[in-house]
Amino acid sequence: MGDRWYSEAVVYCLDIDTYADSDGDGVGDIRGLIGRLDYLARLGVTCLWLHPIHPSPNRDDGYDATDFYNVDPRFGTLGDFAELLHQAQNRGIRVIIDLVVNHTSDEHPWFQSARSSPDSPYRDWYVWSDTEPDDRHQGMVFPGEQNETWSYDRTAKAWYYHRFYKFQPDLNFANPEVRAEIKKVMSFWLQLGVSGFRMDAVPFIIELTEPGNPNSPKDFEFLTEMRQHVQWRRGDAVLLAEANVEPDQLPTFFGDAGGSGNRIHMLFDFMLNGRLMLALARQDPEPVIEALRDTPALPAGGQWATFLRNHDEIDLSRLTAEQRNQVYAEFGPDEDMRIYDRGIRRRLAPMLGNDRRRIELAYALQFSLRGTPVLRYGEEIGMGEDLSLPGREAIRTPMQWSYKPNAGFSTADPDKLVRPVIDKGEFSYEKVNVTAQRRDPKSLLAWFERMIRTLREAPEIGSGATTHIDVPMPAGVLAHRADGPTGTMVFLHNLGAEDVEVDLSVLAPEADLPTDVLADRGYGEVGKLDNLKLAGYGYRWIRLCRGEAV
Ligand code: GLC
Repeated sequence: MGDRWYSEAVVYCLDIDTYADSDGDGVGDIRGLIGRLDYLARLGVTCLWLHPIHPSPNRDDGYDATDFYNVDPRFGTLGDFAELLHQAQNRGIRVIIDLVVNHTSDEHPWFQSARSSPDSPYRDWYVWSDTEPDDRHQGMVFPGEQNETWSYDRTAKAWYYHRFYKFQPDLNFANPEVRAEIKKVMSFWLQLGVSGFRMDAVPFIIELTEPGNPNSPKDFEFLTEMRQHVQWRRGDAVLLAEANVEPDQLPTFFGDAGGSGNRIHMLFDFMLNGRLMLALARQDPEPVIEALRDTPALPAGGQWATFLRNHDEIDLSRLTAEQRNQVYAEFGPDEDMRIYDRGIRRRLAPMLGNDRRRIELAYALQFSLRGTPVLRYGEEIGMGEDLSLPGREAIRTPMQWSYKPNAGFSTADPDKLVRPVIDKGEFSYEKVNVTAQRRDPKSLLAWFERMIRTLREAPEIGSGATTHIDVPMPAGVLAHRADGPTGTMVFLHNLGAEDVEVDLSVLAPEADLPTDVLADRGYGEVGKLDNLKLAGYGYRWIRLCRGEAV
């Protein structure tokens, strides 16, 4: 393994409240999660990303905190959290937590004090305007559910800024006290033992909001400052940022002080995510080839985090209208499946018609592309969504552990559950659950375990250089390679339904006993690479040669 653990990590994200309930109150908790660490270790996860863990009125699923120095009492205590870190570490699993500091809940004591009086010591911790700002109805993140970014507060007798929902007032990062406090929050959790943070809404954190200016300046230096701070407190801590911005802006978030990244270590690759969905919808790899070609070069140490699904909608806003409509037509044909005029609120398995071949293909492709793969809980067993739930809750249903009532998630009465389990149709917990798949060596879960183990043996994917192999290919097929000090891996993924044959003999001079290390079926010998069979929706991961072990 290379020096930087995050380059070769497998990240798994989950919400504590929907994962495993240990005390039968209907809400998942930390002790429940501790009980499932062996499952995660077996799956091959090396880093957990926990969605917000702080006390919260939960009007945005915890992305509205009332205390950054504690855990939500529904999840347990700080003691339980420290125990989780210890138990995870024992199994070689790191933990990173969501750091949601662009805003607080409006119930946070800081905001309560700030609104109470212009003389409050916290007044200037938020962003105010005495008059109604001209850009009041601009820059909303949740169109359809939010119609302004400035709201009038009667108690404060002033307008306050909120990039997200009205109950999420933005903190004022122009204020040095706020910056110092947020660094203190980070120190606190690092001291407890987290390995870093998934930083929420980073482009908005660094915004120095000016009333009436929808394009307020951004202070990237704060990212440099945070990185410095974090790295001094814990050398191997990592920052993984959500920054869904235009590609030409991305390098600035990584920073580049003389060739080495000095800000964020890892960014989610939203660009690739949209292109992957388009490629799967069209059954044509061209959008992925474009994504590989257009990705901005990263400074040393910079890394992408790849994903197919996360806890939010699939954001298609960076595709053209025509491309977006193609993805909608395939994966979100009903209005009800769409959200915010830009996305789809579904999980992957149902979008792919629960076709096992296509699910494997999609995940084999994601995990073989450059970067660190992030997997959302439940995807490893092919869970579905519940479109009868509002908004993004459709994809936030409890983990389906077994055939037991409530999918084995909780022993509470069903009406006490934090969210209903999926109990109807082909994605019902009676059909899709961990217990059933654990027993079946051919299950999707068993496949994920095997695929992730294979990834462990191919560090080139995370740490090496990935390029498209630009030779004539049958329609639908993507050929790419990953090169690093440990050798070269070659990948074939057939996004189309037709069986094909691929000629990669151009690579023969580099090959040294090439073999399939992962494939959708037994294809036999790789031979001279001139006649590689590939089934419709099939894939082959081929080790071309080994380099020097490092
Ligand atoms: C991020 C989160 C999303 C949340 C929003 C506001 O985009 O991913 O779930 O609603 O920030 O905090």
